[in-house]
Amino acid sequence: MASCAWYKLFRPLLFRFPAETSHRLIFTLLRLLYRLPGASALTRAIFVRRLTALPVRTMGLHFANPLGLAAGLDKNAEHIRPLADFGFGFLELGTVTPRPQPGNPRPRMFRLMHHAALINRMGFNNVGVYKMIANLMREKKPCPIGINIGKNRDTPAEQTVEDYLSALQAVYAHADYVAVNISSPNTPGLRDLQSEENLDALLRALKTAQAELAAKHGRYVPIALKIAPDLDDAQIAAIAKLVLAHKFDAVIATNTTITRPDLGHEPLAAQTGGLSGRPLKRLSTEIIRKLYVQLQGNVPIIGVGGIENAEDAWEKLLAGADLIQIYTVLIYEGPGIVRTLVNDLADRVRASDCVSLTAAVAQARKNKAREVPIN
Ligand SMILES: Cc1cc2nc3c(=O)[nH]c(=O)nc-3n(C[C@H](O)[C@H](O)[C@H](O)COP(=O)(O)O)c2cc1C
Repeated sequence: MASCAWYKLFRPLLFRFPAETSHRLIFTLLRLLYRLPGASALTRAIFVRRLTALPVRTMGLHFANPLGLAAGLDKNAEHIRPLADFGFGFLELGTVTPRPQPGNPRPRMFRLMHHAALINRMGFNNVGVYKMIANLMREKKPCPIGINIGKNRDTPAEQTVEDYLSALQAVYAHADYVAVNISSPNTPGLRDLQSEENLDALLRALKTAQAELAAKHGRYVPIALKIAPDLDDAQIAAIAKLVLAHKFDAVIATNTTITRPDLGHEPLAAQTGGLSGRPLKRLSTEIIRKLYVQLQGNVPIIGVGGIENAEDAWEKLLAGADLIQIYTVLIYEGPGIVRTLVNDLADRVRASDCVSLTAAVAQARKNKAREVPIN
């Protein structure tokens, strides 16, 4: 597995601390480093200069490469500059809620080292949408920025839609796209929003608000729906039907799973929360595949879940993703994984003799469809 040499050296020390402490430590170090003049340029020189351009156009947006940071790592828009300097094609910030909230008590994030996985039950700890926007406005936007929104834990179920609407209103002018998170397993009742009746009402309200906001700001900001991997075929079909009916702009598949696939006798498997990383990979790719069939290629998909290398990324793209995201592998392999993934994908495009990633993926999807025997 490719990884930064320095991160490999540093990782045993970092992993001695509880997962959330390591996370804070690394971002505190980065913040200190970024006070030095030239730190950003140096980081970009290390990570981005040797990164191959791999442009993708989707959702009406231009991405320098298809690899984004998944939601949850930078919930409060505090680390945009270093994260962009690692070479991501886009960053998804949040999940952010209308009001600040502390999240669940610690410990709430666990490393499953033997499985390259994490279990988390963070519970949308965040500074609230207004503080987050203030943080975001301090930085010049280095790449497309998605803002992932959710509801506050203590908002009663019947006021859920209002929470999403007020968060959408607050982030609209600052986002390149907005992600609507209805799939975190750590906010009680949130996943109930994936039911047909609830989702219909939510999507309708969001699309109405989006039209009003687009007129007000003179800019159309696409909205993506982030779904869980724990959905059966009927649920996927129902979600796809609503996404098409409401002309939603994209789907992000998937969030973490509440199931525990391939974990054997891992003692941490019993921890409550969402599982991410390697054991999620197959599950999320299957959801993307089924969703792509249901959406008939009419709605962009952002594929996320267990990507560790270019092969995994390619699988997600073949299954139907237009863009991809990572989180857990970044914790295990360090920021060098961004460049490795993008450059390895670019090698695949070159080998295909196609002019772009989109064309190479389309060709590979066609070839794969031909492989399926016709009875
Ligand atoms: C510690 C942690 C916190 C997360 N927080 C959020 C979140 O706030 N909002 C969200 O939509 N997804 C959140 N996620 C899910 C990720 O965005 C992603 O969908 C999931 O981890 C699968 O990708 P991965 O296997 O590459 O990590 C979180 C994941 C982890 C590991």
